[in-house]
Amino acid sequence: MTGTAALGGAGLLAALAGRAPVYGQSLGAPAEPVTGVTIPLDLVAAERPTALPCFAGHTLPMWTLSDETWLPIVRMPFGAALEVSLENRLPREGEHASIHWHGIRLPNDQDGVPYLVQPPVLPGDRYAYRFTPPDTGTFFFHTHCNTAEHLGRGLHGVLIVEGDETEPYDADEVLLLRDWRIDAALGQFLAFTTNRGAGRAGTYGPVRSVNGIVGPTIDLPASGDCRLRLINVDPTRILTLGIEGADAAIVAVDGVAIAPIALFRWELGPAMRIDIVIRSPADGGTAQLVDYRIDPPLPLAALRGVGAPVRTGGFDPAPLRAGHVPEPDLSKALPWELRFDASGDADIAVVDDPALPYLGPLCLTLNDFWTINEAGWPSADHARLPAPLAELTRGATYAVTLRNPSRFHHPIHIHGHTLKVLASDKQTIVPHFADTVLLLPEETIQAAFVADNPGKWMIHCHVAEHQETGMMGYYTVG
Ligand code: C2O
Ligand code: CU
Repeated sequence: MTGTAALGGAGLLAALAGRAPVYGQSLGAPAEPVTGVTIPLDLVAAERPTALPCFAGHTLPMWTLSDETWLPIVRMPFGAALEVSLENRLPREGEHASIHWHGIRLPNDQDGVPYLVQPPVLPGDRYAYRFTPPDTGTFFFHTHCNTAEHLGRGLHGVLIVEGDETEPYDADEVLLLRDWRIDAALGQFLAFTTNRGAGRAGTYGPVRSVNGIVGPTIDLPASGDCRLRLINVDPTRILTLGIEGADAAIVAVDGVAIAPIALFRWELGPAMRIDIVIRSPADGGTAQLVDYRIDPPLPLAALRGVGAPVRTGGFDPAPLRAGHVPEPDLSKALPWELRFDASGDADIAVVDDPALPYLGPLCLTLNDFWTINEAGWPSADHARLPAPLAELTRGATYAVTLRNPSRFHHPIHIHGHTLKVLASDKQTIVPHFADTVLLLPEETIQAAFVADNPGKWMIHCHVAEHQETGMMGYYTVG
């Protein structure tokens, strides 16, 4: 806990005073795609007993996607196609799998949602995906069923689409932020979900980690402009991130570039990502990545400068290239209201349309704690798909009002499209694109997007237990 002591009151005050300056440089021209490149990727979902450093000497039955590493990090050039072979070797009968490419605006049939867009892949079976990501940036992928347990055991990977830099940074590191639901004394996983957690803020893991380590020290070239890709893959926990001891700027949110703004505090809910650039400390010095959400603030990782200084002069980080997400034109927007709430007397609408696929259990629990627009995804009769939350017109622009009347946070994820987050009735928003929008308790957020991607797309809370107890639905773009 030496790191905690280092967070003096002076540092905190300095950070509070230094509210979000905007740096001088605006976004670069959008990246140009490469052509004719295909990246193969083999994923084998299986149980692999693993002793991550944060497991304190214990080996746990993780479920992961590769024999080579517990955390596959795929880097591909912008414009390349990803050609994926998924094999399900999970050890439990009927434990089906599929891969969702979180944040990628891909064709609907590649979206990896079982029953809605593809058949579930049963143990022993294989499935292929092929798509060309239309955006650069930091993404991740995960299975899309029984999510609290699958994420809880480690079924995820990182997908980086390169080509968004206007000039090279001096380092490029992934920092995967997450907890583990383990009993550190016994060396066992704890129950991945609890009714108490599911009906409230979610069930937290007692062991917190960055890249599988508790409080790692990450070496960076000294006095360099270093890109850190911060990814929250926790099933539950919301982080309030900041940097102590170094200048830092946010350069992308959920993979999409924003003109650099100082990182003061940024709330990163489950599935959310930010790319930051920090001016790393001089040789031997350290800065801290800190979670301010808890008291006292918790240092998550030390960032240590190593070697001869790379740069001199003030911090004015190079911006990224502008993204490819279409800018919504609000003057033409149609309204779409979404309300995320606790269930109360939710009336569950079910349609009986033989043209729709058999829904199967979708791995929901028997509890309906949460709703979207007064309806939960029906857990009582899984054989039928619920009515869509909305049937949107292809090509139209929608002004989305996301309301959270509940007392809890909800990181709301939309498949198939990326929202422009515009305004809030609770906080000042720097407009930015995002595929996952954190709704604070009793907050209403205004967002907008162009519905240009046809298909059936999920929208759900990314607190896995909220999703699995009803806060999940889908919309269509026809
Ligand atoms: Cu990251 Cu529908 O999920
Ligand atoms: Cu939620």
